[in-house]
Amino acid sequence: MTGNPPAARLTRAELLREIGLSPLWQLRPQLTVAVTRQVTPARPPAESISEEREDPARRPPSAPVAAPTASRPEAIARMGWDELRQSVAGCSACALCQGRKQAVLGVGDTSADWLFIGEGPGAEEDARGEPFVGPAGKLLDAMLAAIDLRRGEDVYIANAVKCRPPNNRTPEVAEISACAPYLKRQIALLQPRLIVLLGRAAAHAVLGNAGPLGALRGKPFEYPASECNERRIPVVVTYHPAYLLRTLPDKAKAWEDLCRARALMRMAKASTAAIPVAPPGPLAP
Ligand code: URA
Ligand code: SF4
Repeated sequence: MTGNPPAARLTRAELLREIGLSPLWQLRPQLTVAVTRQVTPARPPAESISEEREDPARRPPSAPVAAPTASRPEAIARMGWDELRQSVAGCSACALCQGRKQAVLGVGDTSADWLFIGEGPGAEEDARGEPFVGPAGKLLDAMLAAIDLRRGEDVYIANAVKCRPPNNRTPEVAEISACAPYLKRQIALLQPRLIVLLGRAAAHAVLGNAGPLGALRGKPFEYPASECNERRIPVVVTYHPAYLLRTLPDKAKAWEDLCRARALMRMAKASTAAIPVAPPGPLAP
């Protein structure tokens, strides 16, 4: 078997990036990382297709052919982990850079099946450079343990924004959007089997302006395959651990969400296991 022909193996997202038409989610004003419902497998979204089409006959002859300039999102979309870390450390794309001690990219196993996404660093995270190390982090660790997971082992933890919002306020929509290319690249590099969104900011970062958290819980979402090497990733929305610390009765609902996430993970693993990597017998003539 020889190596893969590179051109034939490009994903749609890579192709679009090559020809300067990516990232698609810039087309939506607030939506930072596009997600479609699991129940609507048809993709890509019609709006992105229609915006990509252009009738060459209607283009003025003198118009310059769109030059593939490396915008910030495009540059981030090509980064590896080391570059990402360096880039967030020096990022000043939103005002949150002004109050940080350090940017906090994420922590964990970069080949993890599980990706948990929170809101943004708090005081302790800002001081230590690791997500979820304060009180909410202790609860998150307990939530992980409840489904037999441990930080750093098959788990990666990231945040919607990488710099601490002043006084631990909720990040604003513009800040979430400014930071979204980093989150998007983390997802593309990780290619997790499942994404768990912890709270509204994470839901906003990944689902766009999708409504109140209570309306998102229990619903099936999927990260678009076109954005992650043609892998469809189930997305589960649940409460943020800091909210759960204040609202104990909703812990039972979070537990339901985690059980659903665990079941989805089992299904994802089983479905991969069911697909043979190579045909079992000799190829038909
Ligand atoms: N809350 C978050 O959302 N993220 C952290 O890293 C810490 C607290
Ligand atoms: Fe840059 Fe994100 Fe920090 Fe804003 S929050 S300065 S976009 S790294």
